[in-house]
Amino acid sequence: MSSAQKFKTLRGFRDFPPEDLALRSHLFERWRETARRYGFQEYDGPPLEGLELYTEKSGDEIVGQLYAFRDKGDRDVALRPEMTPSLARILADRSRALPKPIRWFSVPQLFRYERQQRGRLREHYQWNVDLVGEDSVDADAEVLAVALDSLRSLGLGADQVRARVSDRRLLAALLRSAGVADDRLVTAYTIIDKVEREPRERVAARLVEEAGVTPEVADRIVGIFDATGLDAVRESFGDDPEVAEALDRVRDFLGVMDDLGFGGFVEFDLAIVRGLAYYTGIVFEIFDRVGEFRAICGGGRYDRLLELVGGDPLPAVGFGMGDVVLSELLKDRGLAPTFSREVDWYVGAVTPAERPLARQLAGALRASGDSVVTPLRDQSVRRQLKSAASEGARRVMLVGPDEVARGIVQVRDMADGSETEVEIRSLLGDRAPGDAPGVVAAAGGSPA
Ligand code: HAM
Repeated sequence: MSSAQKFKTLRGFRDFPPEDLALRSHLFERWRETARRYGFQEYDGPPLEGLELYTEKSGDEIVGQLYAFRDKGDRDVALRPEMTPSLARILADRSRALPKPIRWFSVPQLFRYERQQRGRLREHYQWNVDLVGEDSVDADAEVLAVALDSLRSLGLGADQVRARVSDRRLLAALLRSAGVADDRLVTAYTIIDKVEREPRERVAARLVEEAGVTPEVADRIVGIFDATGLDAVRESFGDDPEVAEALDRVRDFLGVMDDLGFGGFVEFDLAIVRGLAYYTGIVFEIFDRVGEFRAICGGGRYDRLLELVGGDPLPAVGFGMGDVVLSELLKDRGLAPTFSREVDWYVGAVTPAERPLARQLAGALRASGDSVVTPLRDQSVRRQLKSAASEGARRVMLVGPDEVARGIVQVRDMADGSETEVEIRSLLGDRAPGDAPGVVAAAGGSPA
């Protein structure tokens, strides 16, 4: 068995050779650029945290997927499965000193021991965007606009993706009016979160078993999800003042999304609950319109988390957008960038005698900011031209004895095959050919 066969990546983990890293970098660039356009600043935290940060704050689903172990100092620790508890912990210490609202984003690598399935791995990168210290509908809408704007900048418009939005306050009001006790609401949420993936009878049975409601109440709850659209919910349940208030808030939110230019992306959908325990208000998930892929993004309002980790009680709203589903979707839709090797220059020598000068020229070009590849041993001209092509060099300079005698080099433009003569002195700046190695003055830019 070769060592390549013996040592494989762990199941659910990925290597990123350059052609795969190119797509990941493309996402990161769009994410960072979009966050910047909305005034968000980047932060990070450690990949390893104390276990109790998650056991107490994230909810059973994530806790069941933790990469957790006891370290050499006998502390229970876990690789971060999500960023939100770390954010809450970081802000618990410093939010008081920060101007509000706080607009922060991060691109952490996260770890969850998930069952192997399409779109879910055991590590992923997740763009987190969170707005802390503002509880208005505008804050909710702004955060979802950031998510949708990034997708639009990646080429995914309203014809390709949609955000499904609901509100836990609305769901809580509906569940309460159906007869669910307050202390069973969170359990009911996690059951209802599966309403699209499990048969209705199974959801109803679990509501009876786990949320402690009667079979009649369970049927009534499952029936709520037949009412699609805000108007239908208002018609069926709008007499309850708590439901009516929550419906007004969702309506206002949809209005602000429209103002921001993202109305076409957004749909109210009561079936969106979210698996995490800490959400308290608006909740949303973004999907491809065809419905082929799992959620690209999920988020919502969590007004109590900061207080729960010992900070000031600050309202917060945010989302996480993973790289796995998004990469699959972009590839499927032909929107992934094509990977190409590219450098500005290939600088070689016709005979070994010109190699010192070629090295100096390469150094001067690099000092001016250009990317340069050189042969790292004596090679024939033919071989060097071949390498220049495979490196994707835009220009090639092979320093030859005749040209050096005239104080020039020939620069070949690989795009059109044209050749230009350039003075060696103009490339080297103050450093004359043959000078001892040392600091090379910047060449003052490269010839066109
Ligand atoms: P989440 O819904 O667990 O939310 O994850 C957000 C997104 O991360 C998902 O929609 C999906 O794209 C991606 N994702 C999650 N797990 C995996 C996985 N195992 N493999 C690949 N991709 C995955 C949260 O984590 C919240 N903390 C987000 C948040 C931030 N809420 C407020 N602020």
